[in-house]
Amino acid sequence: MSSESLYRGLVMDAVRVSEAAAIAAWALAGRGDEMAADQAAVDAMRTALNELPIDGVIVIGEGERDEAPMLYIGERVGRGNGPRIDIALDPLEGTSLTAKAMANALAVMAWAPEGTLLNAPDTYMEKIACGPGYPEGLIDLDRSPAENVRAMAAAKGVETTEITVCVLDRPRHAEIIASLREAGARVHLITDGDVAGVINTADPDTGIDLYLGQGGAPEGVLACAALKCVGGQFQGRLVFRNADEKARALSHGITDMDKKYDLHEMVRADAIFVATGVTDGALLDGVKIVNGFVTTHTLVMNSASGSVRQVRMKRRL
Ligand code: FBP
Repeated sequence: MSSESLYRGLVMDAVRVSEAAAIAAWALAGRGDEMAADQAAVDAMRTALNELPIDGVIVIGEGERDEAPMLYIGERVGRGNGPRIDIALDPLEGTSLTAKAMANALAVMAWAPEGTLLNAPDTYMEKIACGPGYPEGLIDLDRSPAENVRAMAAAKGVETTEITVCVLDRPRHAEIIASLREAGARVHLITDGDVAGVINTADPDTGIDLYLGQGGAPEGVLACAALKCVGGQFQGRLVFRNADEKARALSHGITDMDKKYDLHEMVRADAIFVATGVTDGALLDGVKIVNGFVTTHTLVMNSASGSVRQVRMKRRL
């Protein structure tokens, strides 16, 4: 069966799973309890996954088996009577955004045929991304932030002052931020949520041209699945802070610790990407509960068919 027809039947299943996680997390938004919000999303996502006619394996999940009781890496989900698929998920991308009821929290998932998603360990990853329509190789992790800004400005035919770069607001990015500003770029800082940060480079309405900086490696795979659907460029390189993290990578089958991955190495076949807004954000509206009805807003994309859908769901509570 082609991946296009394989996925066609699964797209709405993926939407329902993502909606369930977002609704569960939203119930705990603004309560100051990151763990409770995350757990609610995990429970709901797992329950919804286990109702589906798929034979799924979690490759990006809540952690190793010994540290995560649910949706751990290697856990099989689904009824086991359908296609074998790799699942990367983050039931709540933006735990602290949710706990504080701040913008841009999402429930996120990517599906691809078994064995085709990078089994990224839970380490940091250096990332650079841009949207579609530029010559391949325009951006490169091995070039300085200023060089990447100049390359993007030249490709767009504008001054560097018209280039906007999204960066996670972290002390570790102080140097990158300073060099981007020195090169003339506008720096759009985000407090959390670099899956959306990367995806925004592919949406001209956001005004974001580049994403740069270190974030979670698992989030890197999820963002790549999204870019696989809408086009764009991405490079990532794992960052290890200690020997334990390297050992983790080794146990995931990674032997070249300095490898620079591009998006097609991180997502090696057609994929479905789905995200539902938990709180309102630039990408998606958040969950709303009004007059006994719950509404959700979901983005679902299928790289096999090239479809990009926005699904709005409303149902009685
Ligand atoms: P969580 O929702 O898992 O907390 O992740 C949020 C996030 O901002 C990711 O989007 C990002 O990749 C990562 O955390 C960055 O990590 P850190 O907060 O350690 O800089």
